[in-house]
Amino acid sequence: MSTRTAHAAKTLARKYYTDPGIYEAETRSVFFERWIYAGRASSLAQAGSYFLREIELESIIVLRDGAGEIRAFHNVCRHRGTRLLAEPEGQLSKSIQCLYHAWTYGLDGTLIGAPFMDEVESFCQEDYPLKPVSVATWEGCVFICLSEEPVPFEQAYAPLIDKFGSWTLDQLEIAHSITYEIPCNWKLVFQNYSECYHCPGLHPALNRLTPFRNSSNDLEEGPFLGGPMHMAIEGGSMTMTGQTCAPSLGDLSGEALSCVQYYTVYPNMLLSLHPDYVLIHRIERLATDATRVVCDWLFHPDAMASEDFNPSPAVEFWNMTNKQDWQVSALSQQGISSQAYTPGPYSELESMIAAWDREYLCSIGEG
Ligand code: FES
Ligand SMILES: [Fe+2]
Repeated sequence: MSTRTAHAAKTLARKYYTDPGIYEAETRSVFFERWIYAGRASSLAQAGSYFLREIELESIIVLRDGAGEIRAFHNVCRHRGTRLLAEPEGQLSKSIQCLYHAWTYGLDGTLIGAPFMDEVESFCQEDYPLKPVSVATWEGCVFICLSEEPVPFEQAYAPLIDKFGSWTLDQLEIAHSITYEIPCNWKLVFQNYSECYHCPGLHPALNRLTPFRNSSNDLEEGPFLGGPMHMAIEGGSMTMTGQTCAPSLGDLSGEALSCVQYYTVYPNMLLSLHPDYVLIHRIERLATDATRVVCDWLFHPDAMASEDFNPSPAVEFWNMTNKQDWQVSALSQQGISSQAYTPGPYSELESMIAAWDREYLCSIGEG
């Protein structure tokens, strides 16, 4: 266990949780600038499979094209700007057609049909493809970036790129998914995940499996923070029974079979790697006081194909824990919104929140 300190830091001021101006600054400097976790590549099963992601007023189509590549485009028709796709996910045939005047785009974004536009002398069809959005795939996770000049993904994610190969994360598929809406600021979800000071009181079941002082960190500064937490049951997992509910993943061995790894991935992902499954929280900022969290339980397809496959012990365990966390996060939002709130001191067990806050302030130009 590393010695940790929060350096006598205090919690963030109220404005970071309530002020529309700060929210705007986050939009500009973080959500329109950084790589954003969009979902799993396995959710785009075949050519034409797509899902939409919304970031403020921007709607992004993420799809698999005819060649099997994952691409992303602004959901905006090049004729008069009409939103092209409205359903949050679905299956396209070979093209995207605008409902308004039937301009039609290939899955690679090329404009392939524009009725009667050949009558316009200066019109050149090649000049009006869908506007592309940058995409990167890592370990089966799809990321998008709205920046005109994104930092190359490999550079931005360098500390994580080769870190989790043993879990065969790229092969895992979603066995179960739950969406939560929480009346709290998105940062409270990160801050809650970043410490186990609250575990003995709020999560008695979790605290039996991983006593709160068993955590350690191997990424302690920057956009990715966290590390392994030792489980009380050797070879167990974080489930209702404390036992695994699937064979161990990949080539995990030794110590890794008795640990769960917890990482915050700035700015919208929580990654929890267990010996037998992986949990991903995808965090969508909705308003200063509203956050949507989509939680996916990922297992290896071989385990899912087995007749006695049952992810419920893992799903129930984290659904219970999530709800306990969302309850205190909502209560925090309420208290922080009060004029009586002033920043409070972090314990040494909250050193990772202090590090997260530093990264956050830096990301909005206040570090
Ligand atoms: S606005 Fe899309 S075809 Fe006219
Ligand atoms: Fe918690």
